[in-house]
Amino acid sequence: MGALSAGAFGFHHLRRRHPICPALSQGEEELALITGASSGIGREISLELARRGFGVILVARRADKLQELASDIRALLADRKRMVPIHIVPADLSCPEAARRVYESIVREKGLQVSALVNNAGVGYTDSFLKMPTAKIEEIVHLNALSLTQLCWLFGQEMASRGRGRIMCVSSIAGVAPGPLVAVYSASKAFVSSFTLAIQHELEPEGVSVTNLLPGATFTEFQARAHAQAAAAFSVPGMAMPADRVAREGVTGMLRGDSVVVPGLVNQAFVLATAVLPPKLLRLVTSMAWSEVPI
Ligand SMILES: NC(=O)c1ccc[n+]([C@@H]2O[C@H](COP(=O)([O-])OP(=O)(O)OC[C@H]3O[C@@H](n4cnc5c(N)ncnc54)[C@H](OP(=O)(O)O)[C@@H]3O)[C@@H](O)[C@H]2O)c1
Repeated sequence: MGALSAGAFGFHHLRRRHPICPALSQGEEELALITGASSGIGREISLELARRGFGVILVARRADKLQELASDIRALLADRKRMVPIHIVPADLSCPEAARRVYESIVREKGLQVSALVNNAGVGYTDSFLKMPTAKIEEIVHLNALSLTQLCWLFGQEMASRGRGRIMCVSSIAGVAPGPLVAVYSASKAFVSSFTLAIQHELEPEGVSVTNLLPGATFTEFQARAHAQAAAAFSVPGMAMPADRVAREGVTGMLRGDSVVVPGLVNQAFVLATAVLPPKLLRLVTSMAWSEVPI
C-alpha cells in the first residue's frame, strides 16, 4: 500500500496541541463554504458550523434542498436567539469551470471572505470497472478530485494572503486501500487524501490548517446513489455511522487543526490494518465490503 498506508496518515500526530489558524481580529466573522451541503455529511457539517457561530455558504446542485437547510439553520438558531449569515450557491461541480464560477460568485460578485472551506461533495458508484459508463467515471474524477483541487487552490490563495484559514477535505477510508467494485471512487479518495496531506505541509506556514476527514460507511443518500444499499459495509449491523456524528467529529478536528480525522473505532482499526495486511488479502476484504449480502 506504500504511500497511503496508516503510517502515512501519521496516527501519532492526529491531534494538534497548538492551533495553526490564528484567532480572528475583533469584528471579523467566520464564514464557511460547504460543498455538498444539500444532504448527508455536508448538511450535518453545515448545521454544526452554524451552531458554532459560523456563517455558511451552502453549495450543491439542488437549490430547494439548500433552501430547506437554510430554514432549518434559521429555526435552530432562533431557538438560541442568534443568527448567522446564510448564502446559497447552486452549482454542479462536476462541470468544467464550475469551481471557478463558484469562487467568482462568492469572492468577486458577493465580496465574501471565506475563512473555512469544506470540500465535501462527492459521488461513487458500485460496479465492475468495465461496466461503468465513461460519463460516470468522468463525473467521479471531476467532482471528487478536480473541483476539490481547484477550490483548494482558489480559496487557498485568499487564505494564505490573509495569513489565516481552515480547509477540510472529505476523503474516505475507501481511499486507504484499492477498492474492487468501486475502483474509480477509491482511487479518487486516495487522490484526495494524498493531496490533502501534501498541501497541509505547504499551507501550515501560511497560517492555513488543512484537515483530512476519512469517514467509513455512513448513513446518507450515498448508498442509494452508489447502488450500495445491500453492500456489506452498510448492511452488516454496527458498521455504518450516523452522519451527524461524523460531521461533529470532523468539525471538531478542523477547528482544532487536526491533520487526520477518522471517526469510529472500527474505521480506525481498518485504517491501521491496511498497514499490515498483505495487498491481496486487503483487496479481498475491500471487495467483500462492497459486495451485496442477502438482506
Ligand atoms: N456515506 C458514506 O458512507 C461515505 C463514506 C466515506 C466518505 N463519504 C464521502 O462523504 C462526502 C459526502 O457524502 P454523503 O455520504 O453525505 O452523500 P450524499 O448524502 O449523497 O451527499 C453528497 C452531496 O454532494 C452533492 N453533490 C453530488 N454531486 C454533485 C455535483 N455534481 N455538484 C455539486 N454537488 C454535488 C449532493 O448534492 P446535490 O445532489 O444536491 O448536488 C450532496 O449534497 C462524499 O465526498 C463521500 O464520498 C461518504
